[in-house]
Amino acid sequence: MDLFEYQARDLFEAYGVPVLQGLIADTPDEAEAAAAKIGGVVVVKAQVQVGGRGKAGGVKVAKTVAEARAHAENILGLDIKGHIVKRVMIAQGASIASEFYFSILLDRSNRTFLALCSVEGGMEIEQLAVERPEALAKVAVDAIEGIDLNKALAIAKAGGFNDELAAKVAPVFVSLWSVFKKEDATLVEVNPLVLDESGKILALDGKVTYDDNAEFRHTEREHVSIAKVDPLEAKAKALDLNYVKLDGSVGVIGNGAGLVMSTLDVVAYAGEKHGGVKPANFLDIGGGASAEVMANGLDVILGDEQVKSVFVNVFGGITACDAVANGIVGALNSLGDSASKPLVVRLDGNNVVEGRRILAEYNHPLVTVVETMDEAADKAAELANR
Ligand SMILES: Nc1ncnc2c1ncn2[C@@H]1O[C@H](COP(=O)(O)OP(=O)(O)OP(=O)(O)O)[C@@H](O)[C@H]1O
Ligand SMILES: [Mg+2]
Repeated sequence: MDLFEYQARDLFEAYGVPVLQGLIADTPDEAEAAAAKIGGVVVVKAQVQVGGRGKAGGVKVAKTVAEARAHAENILGLDIKGHIVKRVMIAQGASIASEFYFSILLDRSNRTFLALCSVEGGMEIEQLAVERPEALAKVAVDAIEGIDLNKALAIAKAGGFNDELAAKVAPVFVSLWSVFKKEDATLVEVNPLVLDESGKILALDGKVTYDDNAEFRHTEREHVSIAKVDPLEAKAKALDLNYVKLDGSVGVIGNGAGLVMSTLDVVAYAGEKHGGVKPANFLDIGGGASAEVMANGLDVILGDEQVKSVFVNVFGGITACDAVANGIVGALNSLGDSASKPLVVRLDGNNVVEGRRILAEYNHPLVTVVETMDEAADKAAELANR
């Protein structure tokens, strides 16, 4: 998850990274009040999750409260590369002596973390990387050792800072490493990091991306997640299922993300002949689909009011078809009367004969076993359109 600049600013402040005051405003009135509260020169900054706000007219200096209001009026509602500005941050104005660049990111290809650093900040970092790559230091950061003061000094030197400046920025790099590590981030970027006229180092702009895979470790974060979650998706998540709600009426369960993706295509294609029915969801129950996982999956899908039929598409591999068939039987038994919609099952692969035999013997009135994927998709679409 990406944070907005104002959220990154708040986070930096909590970790002792030097920042200036910043207040958010959703209306020109609030912007005016914020500017009055901060006093003096302020900068009105569009809060959108896209780079290059300055160039798009989303960052404006205001010398008076009235000017701050006028800038907020112009910036709120502005379209920056397809992102409409709904909120601005009123930031205390800095008197900048020089601008630097610093970031820490996850370097997947080298299986390590990476610090990027340059004493030549201000311009877009992508441009600097292309035009003067030697001016942008890339220093690997060991996950265990992290960035202590010595490492921070080495990074600063590599980035072209002289001794005096390196000594000033190094403690800030150490604090930014704490943000990166303790918050489980995959990116912490400060552009620009500045030296102001009074000799202070300040982070004037921040980008932070959280690692979604570490979300379970950060229950304190509930309040920052802005996205609304679909109740079925929430239920699936609680059951540890890979589920995405879609708009159609054919529920889909498969094993393996690739198979499920092609099942969605096949259902949509078959649906064209049956009143345009479409898949209702993506659900991958993975390789070792036990009866319990199958029951959980069916439970989520049958809980979707839009679902009229369910297509179970399984290719037996490590988990053989007989185990999957037993899983379906177990799921239907445990769901009892709440399993109320027709199920079309296509099994193939490892031990398919035994799998089909188990389902034939079970002979459940709601279950139709079909041999091929195309035929099964057609049957499921037809049932959904009834
Ligand atoms: N609080 C501030 N006081 C003075 N000048 C500022 C302040 N914030 C930003 N600036 C100036 O505006 C420039 C652009 O600001 P900022 O880096 O926040 O936006 P941006 O880089 O255009 O946006 P993005 O980072 O999304 O690409 C900075 O390089 C800096 O010169
Ligand atoms: Mg910036």
